[in-house]
Amino acid sequence: MAGQHTVLIVGSGGREHAFGWAFSRDARIGKIWFAPGNAGTAEVGENLPLAATDEQGLVAWAAKEKPSLVVVGPEAPLCAGLADRLRAQGLRVFGPGKEGARLEGSKSFCKELLVRQKIPTARAGSFQKLEEAIRFSESLPCPQVVKADGLAAGKGVVIAGSHAEAAQAIRQMMAERLFGEAGATVLIEEFLEGEELSVHAVTDGNNLVILPGAQDHKRVGEGDTGPNTGGMGAYAPAPKATPELLREVKDRILVPTLQGLVDLGIPYRGVLYAGLMLTRSGPKVLEYNCRFGDPETQVLLPLLETPLWDLLGAAADGNLAGLPVKIRSGAALTVVLAAPGYPSVPVLGQGIRIGPAQPDSHLFHAGTQTGRNGIAVAGGRVLAATGWGANLEIARQRAYALVAEVSFPGMQFRRDIGHRALPSGGQDRDRAEFR
Ligand code: AMP
Ligand code: GLY
Repeated sequence: MAGQHTVLIVGSGGREHAFGWAFSRDARIGKIWFAPGNAGTAEVGENLPLAATDEQGLVAWAAKEKPSLVVVGPEAPLCAGLADRLRAQGLRVFGPGKEGARLEGSKSFCKELLVRQKIPTARAGSFQKLEEAIRFSESLPCPQVVKADGLAAGKGVVIAGSHAEAAQAIRQMMAERLFGEAGATVLIEEFLEGEELSVHAVTDGNNLVILPGAQDHKRVGEGDTGPNTGGMGAYAPAPKATPELLREVKDRILVPTLQGLVDLGIPYRGVLYAGLMLTRSGPKVLEYNCRFGDPETQVLLPLLETPLWDLLGAAADGNLAGLPVKIRSGAALTVVLAAPGYPSVPVLGQGIRIGPAQPDSHLFHAGTQTGRNGIAVAGGRVLAATGWGANLEIARQRAYALVAEVSFPGMQFRRDIGHRALPSGGQDRDRAEFR
């Protein structure tokens, strides 16, 4: 029987559109809802007038409609305990409960677990008193890293080049409460050097399925310059993530993390997304996220041959052990199209022109909304153009061919996505052709 399953996807970003896109290609799925979704998700399902953080509204809606699976995209509702409340209604949910989500929601909780499990990570101290934090900071060489303990929308991390800068960041977080209660505790840690790698492991609390290693581009500007963002582009598999490296990440990092959760009696059904630094002395954990990465999801899902329904459903059921998970050969690359002014104050409301679809690619929507005059910019990261193919270079060409079909006033994007992995450095080869 076709189309008997239904899915509720909580969130409104490119990640959630990518989930919806993957589910929409599965004939067994009859209906997809998004809460609240965006202009792109409305094309593959129905957008509900419910914010991702409207816990009461979501629980009431889900208890009535009984979707066959709920996938919670962002960290805020997970950290608030949405998955627990949905499970209490007897629903199948992909995403950890409040306790498990602390891996992302409290950097000191995460660090304690890492240290307890002897998992490689930066040396750090956690403080609730300003004077103690400053004293520790002064004892640590610079650069050093100051982190607000709680969720701060990706802004609570400061790389301090001097002790004065570190002290200022500590004061802003602890005394001035720049990030509210998220800064009541701060973590101060040693600076790690290397390339970053995102490793996603889907888990049912006992078993792990490791997805290809992905690399994000955090800085807004080409050549990795300018302020940090939520992510300006990504690709997978990252050549640095060799089978040997992934085996090491599994054995030394992911398996002991899951064991640490088991020891604490925390059931975890969702994804463990390890943000790693590949240092000269091996991979070390920078942070854990309790949800899929954005824009990493927009490159991981096109590479997933196993239906997303099977993978996330098995994790939600605690039943991953027997599931054969297949990954396609080849590569995928995504380019984020951002609003002017992003990441500080994005300018919103402009109309978006979107040309015809292109082969082996897909345009995932994030900050978009449908208005009277068509689709308009409604968030900092607006769209993610993903291409895929036999190798990274082909994926890159397809992604940028799709970018060429999109425009809105002030659209900004990086022309060098994939530069670490491609011999041409991404953009240089194209330029040479036109010379
Ligand atoms: P986090 O939210 O902890 O991942 O931090 C955000 C970003 O800050 C990371 O993606 C890194 O680019 C950087 N970062 C965090 N911790 C460190 C560290 N110990 N050393 C160097 N860079 C770091
Ligand atoms: N791409 C970074 C994140 O999702 O946190």
